[in-house]
Amino acid sequence: MQENSTKKIIFSGIQPTGTFTLGNYIGAVSNWGKLQDEYRCIYSIVDMHAITVRQEPAELRKNTLAAYALLLACGIDLTKTILFVQSHVKAHAELNWVLNCSAQFGELTRMTQFKEKSEKHPEDINAGLFTYPVLQAADILAYNADLVPVGADQKQHLELARNIAQRFNHKYGDTFTLPEPYIPQTGAKIMSLQEPTQKMSKSDENPNAVISILDEPDVIIRKFKRAVTDSEACVRFAEGKDGINNLLTIYSVVSGKSVSEAEKEFDGKGYGDFKLAVGEAVSDKLKSVREDYARLIADKAYLTECCKKSALTASAVSQRIIDKVYRKVGYLTVK
Ligand code: TYM
Repeated sequence: MQENSTKKIIFSGIQPTGTFTLGNYIGAVSNWGKLQDEYRCIYSIVDMHAITVRQEPAELRKNTLAAYALLLACGIDLTKTILFVQSHVKAHAELNWVLNCSAQFGELTRMTQFKEKSEKHPEDINAGLFTYPVLQAADILAYNADLVPVGADQKQHLELARNIAQRFNHKYGDTFTLPEPYIPQTGAKIMSLQEPTQKMSKSDENPNAVISILDEPDVIIRKFKRAVTDSEACVRFAEGKDGINNLLTIYSVVSGKSVSEAEKEFDGKGYGDFKLAVGEAVSDKLKSVREDYARLIADKAYLTECCKKSALTASAVSQRIIDKVYRKVGYLTVK
């Protein structure tokens, strides 16, 4: 990667809390690879965010390396892009602290993900969960990212990152670029297959609600066959048809056809045929991911080496911002 590139900077992150879902893939990860030629892309596996919810340490380690392999299998190209593990780069924790002092208690209490997660884990409403979006702002601002490709659920966190950056710039002078969200028009919020008014989420306890991107073809097809729909028996995108709308969205993204083309294709056909077609299209789309992942995860030495190298590059890039921020806030320099 060219250090003096004039390309716009992209940053995004994903938590290593288990295999990615079809929601992660369609809403975010599948777009990450497509941006690598036009932009200077920096992506991170955000293990520091993951521990805001209790993790089994050995599992987290395993999931982190698996996430690295998965992102490579999803098309991240290390000759073009920096892909690193968040805890390997000190700037994130350092900038997090400084930005905590520019974030307001009131605005953090308004974060819907904080409210949802504290309801889900009432036994452990830790301070990390509360200040989670500040660490996310630090991730983005440590690279002065212009654009952040994410699903719709991250929009509020990005608005907060912009507010924090703006407040810091106002207090200390121009330092940070204000990042823009980059949210896909179709597929920004993939819904649960069992409760299509809810987001598809890794932490869903019902395995039939979630497609994991490493699910085998027969599992994918079975889950789509069981997807909750409605009694109208007409494949069309319309208000109140949440299940069918979700399936049409998924089909449209993975097949590359528009929703209206998909509606025409299934005109007069039953839900059984439609669900089977969606399952097959998803399974085909994920075939190369499954195969590449199996090959990559078998080579731990290679993955570890990639992690090390990219952490060095990410550290060098973010250190420049940290130096500037430390000067601006008035920390004594003794170098
Ligand atoms: P995470 O790990 O929950 O999700 C990773 C990405 O997947 C998107 N996503 C979805 N998109 C569509 N439909 C869904 N059902 C769905 N579920 C998840 C998310 O929007 C996200 O883009 N806080 C972030 C990680 C993060 C981050 C960052 C992102 C940490 N620092 C800096 C961007 C920039 C999170 O928990 O994502």
